Amino acid sequence: CGIVGIVGRKPVAPLMVDALKRLEYRGYDSAGVATIEPDGAFARRRAEGKLRNLDDKLQKSPLAGLIGIGHTRWATHGAPTESNAHPHATDKVAVVHNGIIENFRELKDELKAKGRVFASETDTEVVAHLVSQAIDEGATPEQAVAQSLKRLTGAFSLAFLFPGHPDLLIGARRGSPLAVGHGDGEMYLGSDAIALAPFTDKVTYLEEGDWVVIDRAGARIFDEHDMPVSRGMVISAASAFLVDRGNYRHFMAKEIHEQPEVMSRTLGQYLDFTTGRTALPAQLPFDWKTLDRISISACGTAYYAGLVAKYWFERLARISVDIDVASEFRYREAPLPQNGLAIFVSQSGETADTLASLRYCKAQGQAIAAVVNVTTSTIAREADVVLPTMAGPEIGVASTKAFTCQLSTLACLAVAAGRARGVLTDADEQALVSALAEIPRLAAQALRLEPQIERLAKTIAKARDVLYLGRGTSYPLALEGALKLKEISYIHAEGYAAGELKHGPIALIDETMPVVVIAPHDRVFDKTVSNMQEVAARGGRIILITDAAGAEAATVDAVETIVLPAMPATVTPMIYAIPVQLLAYHTAVIMGTDVDQPRNLAKSVTVE
Ligand code: G6P
Repeated sequence: CGIVGIVGRKPVAPLMVDALKRLEYRGYDSAGVATIEPDGAFARRRAEGKLRNLDDKLQKSPLAGLIGIGHTRWATHGAPTESNAHPHATDKVAVVHNGIIENFRELKDELKAKGRVFASETDTEVVAHLVSQAIDEGATPEQAVAQSLKRLTGAFSLAFLFPGHPDLLIGARRGSPLAVGHGDGEMYLGSDAIALAPFTDKVTYLEEGDWVVIDRAGARIFDEHDMPVSRGMVISAASAFLVDRGNYRHFMAKEIHEQPEVMSRTLGQYLDFTTGRTALPAQLPFDWKTLDRISISACGTAYYAGLVAKYWFERLARISVDIDVASEFRYREAPLPQNGLAIFVSQSGETADTLASLRYCKAQGQAIAAVVNVTTSTIAREADVVLPTMAGPEIGVASTKAFTCQLSTLACLAVAAGRARGVLTDADEQALVSALAEIPRLAAQALRLEPQIERLAKTIAKARDVLYLGRGTSYPLALEGALKLKEISYIHAEGYAAGELKHGPIALIDETMPVVVIAPHDRVFDKTVSNMQEVAARGGRIILITDAAGAEAATVDAVETIVLPAMPATVTPMIYAIPVQLLAYHTAVIMGTDVDQPRNLAKSVTVE
């Protein structure tokens, strides 16, 4: 969910809608705003569905208040209806909330027993009643919030507005980010700096457990023990990025097409093209030579980037890698080696499960490396070393450019590890660096296949189920291809290791089921051709993504081929990702889905 709060000198409702547009990637089930109107009355507008529904309501019945809070929701407790939409309010307080209040049931029972009446099914409303109860018992708004925060368990951030106090906003951060923006006679609260970018670039990030009291003149921050603290102000770079679709129909299309440029930027960060060497941060909190194990945890697409990296670290650097989705890893109680390295891959740097895994590894004495796109994020701040991906803001919910930038970063890391461990020679390193340097050019060539892929998408759009197959580093790409397709087109898809086909999924194959095979002409190509033959023999229709040598060697009937340029094996994941993304994108366009904001998903998942 996304939070915004503004206390200013002009009507805040339109400004809040503008900020919420930038936060809509965090959830878009419903949205709402609350203000204190010039006559002192408290007002609220909420709407089910996309932000434009709220915007329509505000056009019909505008708000004039100079102070307000707003929210865009990704439903956890309670369906995405108007009555469950935030802000939740009593006559004393309105609140917006991101995250989960874990002990809301017991608090709700306690408050109900005191005669409090609830209007929604959300965990959030409990916070509103808890604060109201304290105010009714004589507390000031500040005291009421401080007391209430101590009763809440879970990971969340909150913003409060108090009817009768037209110059007071309170925010709190516990496990979910919140930033304070400093304007001229105006102050802001937001889930991230991108939300505040149109208003100010002067931002203070609250630390874990902090809460903040805001008025037009400034902010006072308190820590979890209610002691006043000072937190530094930073100049956010978010405003430098125009969050705009340009000439593209969707953010996703724009982001797919940005890949040559952003991968080039990312590779430039970790490679020295003049010497042909990798260039990692000088001080690493671990020693490649003595490492015998790496743990990688991540979620979703970032997890698949980690899975590709496992192949690289094992092959190029001879380090064994344990990788798991963060939601499993965090509860597995995995024994970890002394002086081990744990790598966390995350676009947002805020994914709750990934963050929890990081904290587990830290407690187990691991060195922590974070491959993140948002360098001000919690995961970045809690890591020992941050390896930024330079993808720029990614707005489309389905990750594309963040994925290939994660791959680019991890490839450089694996090559550096291989060289440091003596597995790779200087000449090997230089050859790999020159191969990686070709990525932007190859990515641009891959994008030129778009018209053909757009045509092939028509076949996919007619299917009920689609199978993706790959071997080696193409196996995680098969998983990613299936994920992309189901996320945005709602067509059921599964990714499988090509060799596993005969252990189950082959039973599904008939002439109605397209099978996308990702198979560059590499050392496992021949094995994959055998698997394709197994598909063809059962009438399956194959779309083969390969290179010229692969197209020639694939002696199978009924194959449509997408032919990429030939390239060294280490760079294939970054390039083969592009036709896979385009296929999902064009299928979704044909299906007429909401490509950038597919149903039920959120870009940044800050709940378990
Ligand atoms: C959500 C997004 C995915 C993303 C995953 C992990 O599910 O929809 O696109 O891969 O979270 O997010 P992260 O920010 O940690 O990379």
